[in-house]
Amino acid sequence: MKEKLIDDFRKIFGNGGEIRAFFAPGRVNLIGEHTDYNGGHVFPCALTIGTYAVARRRKDGVCRFYSENFPDLGVLTSSLDCLKKDTALDWANYPLGVVWAFGEKGLPIGSGFDLLLFGNIPNGSGLSSSASVEIVTGVMLRALFGIDVTNTELALLGQYAENHFVGMNCGIMDQFVIANGREDCAVFLDTSTLQFEYAPVVLSQKKIVIVNTNKRRGLKDSKYNERRAECEEALRELQAKLPIRNLCDLSREEFDANAHLIGSEVRRRRAKHAIYENCRTLDAVKALNDGDLVRFGKLMNDSHVSLRDDYEVTGPELDTIAEAAWKQRGVIGARMTGAGFGGCAVSIVDDDAVDDFIANVGRAYRDTIGYDASFYTVSIGGCGREL
Ligand code: GLA
Repeated sequence: MKEKLIDDFRKIFGNGGEIRAFFAPGRVNLIGEHTDYNGGHVFPCALTIGTYAVARRRKDGVCRFYSENFPDLGVLTSSLDCLKKDTALDWANYPLGVVWAFGEKGLPIGSGFDLLLFGNIPNGSGLSSSASVEIVTGVMLRALFGIDVTNTELALLGQYAENHFVGMNCGIMDQFVIANGREDCAVFLDTSTLQFEYAPVVLSQKKIVIVNTNKRRGLKDSKYNERRAECEEALRELQAKLPIRNLCDLSREEFDANAHLIGSEVRRRRAKHAIYENCRTLDAVKALNDGDLVRFGKLMNDSHVSLRDDYEVTGPELDTIAEAAWKQRGVIGARMTGAGFGGCAVSIVDDDAVDDFIANVGRAYRDTIGYDASFYTVSIGGCGREL
């Protein structure tokens, strides 16, 4: 892969100079959804699929971008003198936003660069293709310009770019796990402190199967920012009486005793999801550490129900997949993953049941939704790095 992409780079941008290659994964979240901007816990893993980058420094201030995923857009060009979001730059706003974020945080890039990307994460699938592009860009800038930043700082720079340059008000989960992931481990992250631990995911004779709804959605256009605002409002209402910083500071019991402080039924359900989901995540990590996969799977299913009924971010596509998955032999657990509103579901399935799972869930999806879902059996990979 690396050699082919370096050849492609030379064809697009010409020979000469030092050419270096990088990779950053996509991610799947096992449990802990819509908790990361509420100061809760998440439990994602990095994948072995992701975004490859090949890059070279330039002597001038020009930044040139080419994606093998969007060859029709050709080479997109910007300049360090004018780091502004520009719709004409299309996907290149993601890497450009990271360049901008470095500058905003006092780490200006010394010169321009040429950058070629190739991603094998299905685009718009909710497996974090954008955070993967952000982190591969950060890893590339760190290496090419000798900038002293940690992986966690790269994650924060990526999130800053996404929040303030691209305009999507995401939490820290995606960038964090992509910058810090480890093979065969999930990352148990407390988003209120950024303390984290690696938890080995030992799935003997089981597979992680991702089902893509193939319903395209851009998160910027979804109700993501609306959900976030609802949670912030619910927090303000609770803070009238309770000395808390985040919704997820509350236990289930504390929430139940104080839910009446929240003035609307809808906001009560949003807050309930965040708080209960945070508790489920703590329970799920304990179950996994105890080797109790049955309990882990049950918590995954409960998570989906809460995202469907209380948080209302699933929709018919993801519900069809989860509800069909729950009926299949050998399914440990199944739920939507990521932001929702389309995107992907994640299931843990016994090895010998995977083929039937794909056939049966695939059929149920086509019958109900009218087009095909896609299935990927994935492995847990490592963090963003130079190749
Ligand atoms: C998206 C965001 C994350 C997180 C999830 C929902 O992936 O980028 O920060 O909020 O949705 O858990």
